[in-house]
Amino acid sequence: GAEPDLKGRHVVVSAGGTREPLDPVRFLGNRSSGKQGYALARTAAARGARVTLIAANSALPDPAGVDVVPVGTAVQLREAVLQAAADADAVVMAAAVADFRPAVYAAGKIKKKDGQEPEPITLVRNPDILAEISTERARPGQVIVGFAAETDDVLANGRAKLKRKGCDLLVVNEVGESRTFGSEENEAVVLGTDGSETAVPHGPKEALAETVWDLVVERLR
Ligand code: C5P
Repeated sequence: GAEPDLKGRHVVVSAGGTREPLDPVRFLGNRSSGKQGYALARTAAARGARVTLIAANSALPDPAGVDVVPVGTAVQLREAVLQAAADADAVVMAAAVADFRPAVYAAGKIKKKDGQEPEPITLVRNPDILAEISTERARPGQVIVGFAAETDDVLANGRAKLKRKGCDLLVVNEVGESRTFGSEENEAVVLGTDGSETAVPHGPKEALAETVWDLVVERLR
C-alpha cells in the first residue's frame, strides 16, 4: 500500500471537460475523458487524503472513498472549485475548461430556417479558474497545480504559462512531435515556481498522478 503522506489533508481535483450549452440539446465541448483527474483522485485517496473530485461530464465511475461533485459548465465548475478550495490544502486543476462559451443560450432548440444561412455563434470568455484561485489564495501555503498542453517550445511556453497563471506547479503535457524528451508523445514535465523540472516518462496516468502528489507533499511540508 501507499504511504499515507496525504493523511489529514483535503485535496480538490477537477477532472473531465466542460460543456457549454447553445440550447437545450446542444453544447460546445471537448474530448477530455477525465482519466487523468480520476487517477489523481484515486491516488490521493490511497495516500490518505480527503478528496473532493469536481467532475465535469465524465463517464467514469465514482472512485471509492472520494466526494464527487458533478458539474456541467465552466461557470458551474468555478462555483464548485471555489467552494471546495476554501478549506483545501491543495487544488489540482486537471479539467479541460472551455475558454469560451456561447454568448446567448437559446431556451428553445435552435431551428434551421428554409432558404436561410445559419446565425453565427458569438462567444464570450469564461473565467480563468486556475488564475483566480492562484491569485486569491483561500489559505496560506495552499498548493495549486495546473495542467497545460503544448506542442512546441514546451519548457519556454510552460514557464510563461506557470507565471501567467500564478500556480505553484504546472504539468505540461507534450502533444505532438517530441523534441525535448525523446520520440514518444504525451510525455509530461512538471514545472515548479522554484525552477524545478520533473520529467515524467510516457506511462500510465497513475504514475504521473503519483509524481504530482510527491511534488505537492514536498511543498506542503
Ligand atoms: O490557459 P490554458 O487553458 O492552457 O490553461 C490550462 C489550465 O488552466 C488547466 O489547469 C485548466 O484546468 C485551467 N483553466 C481554468 N479555467 C479556464 C481555462 C483553463 O482553470 N477558463
